[in-house]
Parts: sequence; C-alpha cells; structure tokens
Amino acid sequence: MYHEFDLDDIDTKAKPPVEEPDRQYYFIAKCREWVRAFKQRYGRLPESYVLNMGCQMNARDSEKLTAILEQAGFLQAKTEEADFVIYNTCTVRENANNKVYGHLGLLNAYKKKNPHMKIALCGCMMQEPTAVSTIKHRYSFVDLVFGTHNIYKFAELLDSSLHSDTMVVDVWEDTDRIVEELPAKRKYRFKSGVNIMFGCNNFCSYCIVPYVRGRERSRKPEEILKEIRFLAADGVKEVMLLGQNVNSYGKNLTDPLTFAQLLEKVEQIDGIERIRFMTSHPKDLSDDLIEAMRRSKKICNHLHLPLQSGSSRILNLMNRRYDKEHYLNLVDRIRKAVPDLAITTDIIVGFPGETEEDFLETMDVVKKVRFDSAFTFLYSKRTGTPAASMDEQIPEHIAKERFDRLLREVQAIAAQKADCLTGRTLPVLAEEINRQDASLLTGRLTNNSVVHFAGTKEMIGTIQQVYLKESRGFYYIGSLQ
Ligand code: 5AD
Ligand code: SF4
Repeated sequence: MYHEFDLDDIDTKAKPPVEEPDRQYYFIAKCREWVRAFKQRYGRLPESYVLNMGCQMNARDSEKLTAILEQAGFLQAKTEEADFVIYNTCTVRENANNKVYGHLGLLNAYKKKNPHMKIALCGCMMQEPTAVSTIKHRYSFVDLVFGTHNIYKFAELLDSSLHSDTMVVDVWEDTDRIVEELPAKRKYRFKSGVNIMFGCNNFCSYCIVPYVRGRERSRKPEEILKEIRFLAADGVKEVMLLGQNVNSYGKNLTDPLTFAQLLEKVEQIDGIERIRFMTSHPKDLSDDLIEAMRRSKKICNHLHLPLQSGSSRILNLMNRRYDKEHYLNLVDRIRKAVPDLAITTDIIVGFPGETEEDFLETMDVVKKVRFDSAFTFLYSKRTGTPAASMDEQIPEHIAKERFDRLLREVQAIAAQKADCLTGRTLPVLAEEINRQDASLLTGRLTNNSVVHFAGTKEMIGTIQQVYLKESRGFYYIGSLQ
C-alpha cells in the first residue's frame, strides 16, 4: 500500500464509497468489525489460509488477498484447517483443475469439524463456466466464487460472504479496469513481483489464458514506477516485472511506451539492484530490448523464452507466429549481445498432429540452443480452444514416450551447462534458510540458479559473493568469499 489508509477513520455506518480503491478499504474496515465480533464471541481471532495454485501472476494476486485478510484482522494459519480458506486456482492444464477438486474433498471434511469455516475459490479456473457449474452442483459447501477480473473487489466479496449463508458467486466475463493502490503482503521482504500488464491477445491455439484472463491491458508507467519506488523504499532489491507477454507492453496506452523504455526507467530507481521479467514472446522480442539488456547493470542474466515446439509446421498450427529459424536466429542475436545469459523455455509435447519428425525438430532446437533449463509439458486439451477440436489428437502413450525422451535430453544439457560456472565467484542474493539444513542459506545467482552456502540469517536479503564449489545438476554448493 503506498497510500496509508487509516481503517479506524472509515465510517462503516455510512454508505460505501463508489470510487476505487476507497470502496475496498471501506469493506476491509467492515470485515474488521466482523473479526472483532468473532473474537468477542469465541475468545480467539479467526485464521485464514491462502493457497496459490498457479503461476507468478497468481502468486502476486495471492499476496494481495493475503494483505486484505491480514488488514481485516485474520491470523495466518499454517494449514488448511482454518476459518477462511481461499484457493487461487489455475486452469492452464486439465490436471490443475483436478487438483482443485481433490483438495475440495479434504476441505469438506475440515468444514464438518469447524462450522465457522468458509471456503472461497478464485483465479483462472473460476472463469470457466463449466467449472463454476460443477462447483455449484457437486461442491455446494463452497461459500464464495469469483474470477480474475474482479479480484480487486475481494474485500467487498469477503464481506458479503461473511454475512451470507448461501454461496456467493461473482464472475465477470471481462474487464477493462485496472484498480491501483490496493494493499499487498509480500512473501519476501527483499523481492517482489510487479504486474505491468494483464491479459493476453495472442490466442495460441492450445491456450486457455486469453479466455480466462481477458484482453491485454498495460498499467500506466507512472503507476508501475510509483509502486517500484515504494517497494525500493520498503527494502525491496529485486523486482520481477510480470505479464503474459511483456514484450508487447505499452501498446494500448494513451502515450505508448515500449517495454525496453519501461526497463530503462526501472533501472534508474535507487535501491533496486536486480530486475527480472516474465514472460517474453519470441515474436515480439525487439532489438531495443536486446540492447537494453546488453547495456543494463541491473537486468538479470536470465531470459525465459518459451519455444513450445521446434517444428515450424506445429508452431503455425499453434498460432505462435514465428518459425524455427526465427527462434534460433533470435537466440543467436541475444547471446551475442549478452554472452553469459541463461535461457530457459517452455515446451509442449503431443500437440495435435505432432509427428515423430516434428518432435525431432523440437529435439534439434533443444540441442542447438542448449537451454539452461526447460519446463516440459504434455499437451492438455482445453475445451473452447481451437486445438481442442483439431483432428489427430496424439495418443497418450506416444506423447508420454516423446516427453520422456525430451526430458532426458533437457536434463542432461542443463547439468552440463550448470557445470560451466563451477569454480567461479558470483553474486548471490541470499533468500532463505535452507529447508533441509539450517546452517545453510539458499540464494540465487542473477541467472536464476539456486546456490546453497553456509551463512547467517542476518544475510537474508543481501547480495553476497559466493564461490561455486560444486554443481549438483539443479543447484550449486558454494562458500562465502
Ligand atoms: N497444454 C500443455 N501446456 C500448456 N501450456 C499452456 N497451455 C497448455 C496446454 N493446453 C504451457 C505453455 C505455456 C506454459 C505456461 O504452459 O508451455 O508457456
Ligand atoms: Fe497463452 Fe500464448 Fe498468451 Fe502465453 S502468449 S498466455 S501461451 S495465449
């Protein structure tokens, strides 16, 4: 929150304000009254639990949900056995939906033990009418359902739900609004995600995101910079600029600004030492961006550049609007400009019509580019997308066999690449105490690799010079220099 709103100054007897974000602060104050009444009645504060099930954008949204619950007075529970549980869902692949239904079974059992319990669902999966209908009919114990477009109204929806005995459902088809200046509770005090845009206009033929996140909308640069200045003053050293396709940032602004220009402005903010961004679409990655990365002292040595497929024929069916040659050429140009850059990617295996030859084209790109790491996915059919109705869906056993071959190749290359840095001393941002061994800290290189090294908890949030003694495939063992 970069404006201090004093919740005690809000008159909750008055009518709710019409303007945002004032309206939401009014409802936070209302929820706080509910929390106080709960405490008087039961002699304890209610506990809440936010589960993020999706990508970095969802993680940032979850931080906003957490802040609102905290300001309303809820304590944070360590498990899902809480008084208010909210799942921020994903729907990019079918198994994400199955996971939600699985978890709901467990929550139902908790709710039978705790009659105060309220269960809420939000996020991408709730934008799918079939999912909402399944929840209404088969999971009627759920108390609140809302989607991605009205998440800024969470305080208001929470207030309705706390005072209602029936399921509150509020899902919007789309929005052109961006509500600024709502609170967020960061998971890490020294790093933060920052939304720079919402939605996606690309309509890759397999992808449900444009349907559940709506059309592309960029935040105004002055709002983004104001937020980052606030974060820097609050101790943040690393920002991750977030959008489904950051390379097309700014196109729909009244005063258009490119992503490269935005990066240059972020670079000038004192206190910010590392800048990351996600996700880049290969069709829109400009020479200006390459130049900004080359010149910058703060942009991290890491680019996530989803390939999806190495076959130009499949890329065309996927509506990706680039081909194999374009991708390889782009990687060459970026590597020439920024030699130590780590490149990571996303690859889908088993897209409808994918032949063995198409798959070998993907393997070829993997061998040529030598990704530092790759997220590999089995194609998942998403109802409503063009690919779902394409002929020649690939039998699961064939897709799985290709997936395993791809994964072996990707992992072997990643291990070899990681070995290249062994023996060097590099800056590491210490992020947390190691989960297995409390004498170690876990941190990240600017190329996003994980490093474990002996250190003290006072170092968390600082950048240390660490000697990389040994690479163990997915992480390094290092020592302070
Ligand atoms: N099936 C499998 N993977 C998918 N992705 C998006 N949609 C699908 C789908 N239907 C992957 C893409 C994207 C990543 C976030 O998820 O690789 O880059
Ligand atoms: Fe989905 Fe393509 Fe948009 Fe990424 S760019 S969110 S894969 S439609």
